[in-house]
Amino acid sequence: MNKLLPLLIGAIGVLLLATLMLVILPAWQLRTSQPPAQLQPYTEQQLLGRQQYVANGCIYCHSQQPRSTGQTLFDGARGWGRASTPGDYFYDTPHLLGTMRTGPDLLNVGARLKSRDWHLTHLYQPRVIFDWSIMPSYPYMFEVKDEAARDDVVVRLPAQFQPPDGRVVVARKEALDLVEYLLSLDRTYPASHEELQKRDRGYDHRPETAAADGHSG
Ligand code: HEC
Repeated sequence: MNKLLPLLIGAIGVLLLATLMLVILPAWQLRTSQPPAQLQPYTEQQLLGRQQYVANGCIYCHSQQPRSTGQTLFDGARGWGRASTPGDYFYDTPHLLGTMRTGPDLLNVGARLKSRDWHLTHLYQPRVIFDWSIMPSYPYMFEVKDEAARDDVVVRLPAQFQPPDGRVVVARKEALDLVEYLLSLDRTYPASHEELQKRDRGYDHRPETAAADGHSG
């Protein structure tokens, strides 16, 4: 029983140290983070679309982190964009980096696929566009109607995917929000020197040559 006090002090000490190293210090390091000038904050609709992205598990198959040529030669060649920097995620809380790449990286999908119609068709039924696609379809984000109302956005489909009897597929709000979010994903602006430094060297402020020597040694 008389060991209780040292045990308690030890336990609290470990907790305090962990909080300092894993919470306070990183937050202090990141405190000067600024968003890149070209990066726009998400609009309200894009944020709603982002929630759809999370809720529908898009992250299970899609990453949002193009890698540098030092890590892989393929991301650039596939047209997924330059390797991302910390500032690219300034408005992303929490970030949606992802780990799986069953499908392509999406951090710059808005820059390479700019058509709302394309995205709506693809979400309604990916096989319309690629008959080999293993991406799930999201029919519950759409509604089959006898006739489109004035404000309805009708999904473009080839004849064999149209519902029967002349009915039409229109996008629900969920699909429109999600596509608005996808179209906003564009970090193709050039990264500043400071951002590249943070990405490639973290908080190592030694002159570049010294650091390179350190790595090779
Ligand atoms: C089971 C894995 C899987 C899930 C879950 C998934 N996708 Fe995909 N996605 C893929 C695959 C595979 C492709 C490539 C074939 C294609 O385009 O259909 C793809 C392609 C895409 C593309 C085209 C990207 C490009 O560069 O061509 C977009 C946009 C996309 N998905 C968005 C989404 C969204 C939004 C969600 C969530 C609602 C989602 N995906 C969920 C597997 C998935």
